[in-house]
Amino acid sequence: MSKQLEQVMAALSTVIEPELHRDIVSLNMVRDLEIEGDIARFTIVLTTPACPLKDVIAQLCRDAVVGKVVGIAHLDIKWDSQVPTDRKIHGLLDVPMRSLIAVASGKGGVGKSTVSTNLAAALAQAGARVGLIDGDILNPNLPTMTGLGYGRPVVMNDKMVPLEAYGFKLMSTGFLTPPDKPMILRGPMLHGAIRQLFTDVDWGQLDYMIVDLPPGTGDAPLSLAQSFPLTGVIIVTQPQDVAVSDALRSLAMFETLNVPTLGIVENMAGDFFGEGGGEKLAKERGVPFLGRIPLNAEVRKGGDFGRPIVIADPENPAGQAFHQLAQTIAARVSVVMLQSADVIPLNIIG
Ligand SMILES: Nc1ncnc2c1ncn2[C@@H]1O[C@H](COP(=O)(O)OP(=O)(O)O)[C@@H](O)[C@H]1O
Ligand SMILES: [Mg+2]
Repeated sequence: MSKQLEQVMAALSTVIEPELHRDIVSLNMVRDLEIEGDIARFTIVLTTPACPLKDVIAQLCRDAVVGKVVGIAHLDIKWDSQVPTDRKIHGLLDVPMRSLIAVASGKGGVGKSTVSTNLAAALAQAGARVGLIDGDILNPNLPTMTGLGYGRPVVMNDKMVPLEAYGFKLMSTGFLTPPDKPMILRGPMLHGAIRQLFTDVDWGQLDYMIVDLPPGTGDAPLSLAQSFPLTGVIIVTQPQDVAVSDALRSLAMFETLNVPTLGIVENMAGDFFGEGGGEKLAKERGVPFLGRIPLNAEVRKGGDFGRPIVIADPENPAGQAFHQLAQTIAARVSVVMLQSADVIPLNIIG
């Protein structure tokens, strides 16, 4: 490496990634550095395509290099992304997924499925490869919320091909049973059914696998948390006290099972249910508050018409809040994965 290249590299190694709190060189985020005249050219590989910090990182790089390394007047930064692999789940169930995120709640009807769908759509829109499993086996809502409806998936090489909506892949028992027939399964069969949604589906390579859970601390969420080493769990709650106290139980269950908490989402905030309950719970339990989504009729319509609000009306306050939430969650997943010694370092993943 030429002296000047070394100097630029050294300068960049003082740039601290604002979320991950480590320098971008030791995180192996700086690639293909070259110098042409007074321009230093390189690629920064982010840990998620849904990174809100590009401008901040670019400015930090300029501050560190321009005027500090003799002869360099400009930076030419290209952007790429590579979601790290959570080794705990590497090869798990034969699904090539890099992270596994559960969306849970204490109470039903607080917006888990709405959060799951909008999160999946927003991450896919940012360029991530996303899978969504409808873990609410008995009351699958995702076929409606994505507009896919009832319809048997194609089987190829003994595996079901997941359906696609808004750039992400989805599998649900709702595709397999007509809407007017009950899903009748006991505990052990329930567990088998969730497992099959992983194993019997041809998911392909995924950056984020999201599992939308049924509410509470019953059989299904419990067995999921026990049998699959989740990267982390998102707890959704409404702002009012009765919802928050149920959310606390759900949070405590995942903590007992050593599942990392990604954080709490407060949904349906506003005059009707009040505001602040989710944030207060997060503070009290010392877990991150991921964001607040307002109660908004367009969100409900998006669910009923099968067009998530992040797609149908991204400028709507709730649409914006969901986009921001997706970025916050993606950053939080990176943080949790890089904190864990089990994560496969960025430089050795394909
Ligand atoms: N922020 C919101 N504003 C208005 N309606 C919402 C909001 N979030 C969810 N809903 C609606 O509330 C109902 C319950 O949400 P859902 O996502 O199915 O909850 P869960 O999966 O937790 O049972 C759905 O009709 C959904 O469209
Ligand atoms: Mg649901």
